[in-house]
Amino acid sequence: MKFKDTQLDFEALLAEAVFGHGFAHYGYWPEGPPETPSAEALGRAQQAYFDKLAATIPEGIETILDVGSGTGANARALRAMGYRLECLCPSEQLNAMARAKLGEGTPVHDVTFEAFDSPKRFDMCLFAESFHYIALAPALAQAARYAQSHVLIFDYFRRDGGSGDETRGTHRAFVDEVAHQGVFEIVQDDDLTEAILPTFLVLDHLKNAHFGPFLARLRADLRTAYPLRSRLAEVFLGRAMDRFLRPSRREQTFAARHEYRLILLRRS
Ligand SMILES: C[S@@+](CC[C@H](N)C(=O)[O-])C[C@H]1O[C@@H](n2cnc3c(N)ncnc32)[C@H](O)[C@@H]1O
Repeated sequence: MKFKDTQLDFEALLAEAVFGHGFAHYGYWPEGPPETPSAEALGRAQQAYFDKLAATIPEGIETILDVGSGTGANARALRAMGYRLECLCPSEQLNAMARAKLGEGTPVHDVTFEAFDSPKRFDMCLFAESFHYIALAPALAQAARYAQSHVLIFDYFRRDGGSGDETRGTHRAFVDEVAHQGVFEIVQDDDLTEAILPTFLVLDHLKNAHFGPFLARLRADLRTAYPLRSRLAEVFLGRAMDRFLRPSRREQTFAARHEYRLILLRRS
């Protein structure tokens, strides 16, 4: 298991424990940054992200395959709106939370989208911040197999020339691949990066103004109170703590490297 997977599971657990909803996506801030950059504001913006996503689902959709379903929070809210869903996600931790939340009637599959194999078909495939985990060509080919009508993607793409990280493709490569496969046409494609960015303002603030200084003080206190044991702890955790204590500037780096888009594809 990669560190990024564990981190995602942990963040989702926090969203569940702190906010009650369990959304594992960024926040959406159409009115700009909050007056107080707090975790509570972030929880509300995650709900606004869901509301924006739900408002984009076209008329006539009844069944949805929720790809990368996280803790099942989107699925639960969509089910309450009358949609019928199946969920899939490779994380057993997240799926356990989703099953607890969804109960009977909404299957949750322990599998990647690439490996998903089912005779079922759905009106729409939904990718809520999960598209970038999957290479472009297989993601679109699998969507063409399962989505009989639409595909909704609310996620980020690497900017042209942006240095490589976990995101699999640029928006240009995505548009080209859609055209190349020829199954879908793009009916909506909005750049919402500006409205996502305050997420990082809040996360940077929480880390740089609160968690970082707290950890630095705790570290110093432990050194004084338990010099031997703290030296031992530093051997194992010192580097990770040093990394965490470096101030983060994701608000700047995210926008330089990524664009966040809301995209609706329709079978052509
Ligand atoms: C950032 S979370 C978003 C979760 C959820 N959609 C939400 O909006 O709260 C990304 C999700 O994609 C899942 N994921 C990662 N790789 C995947 C893959 N290859 N196929 C399907 N889902 C994947 C993760 O396990 C996680 O559930």
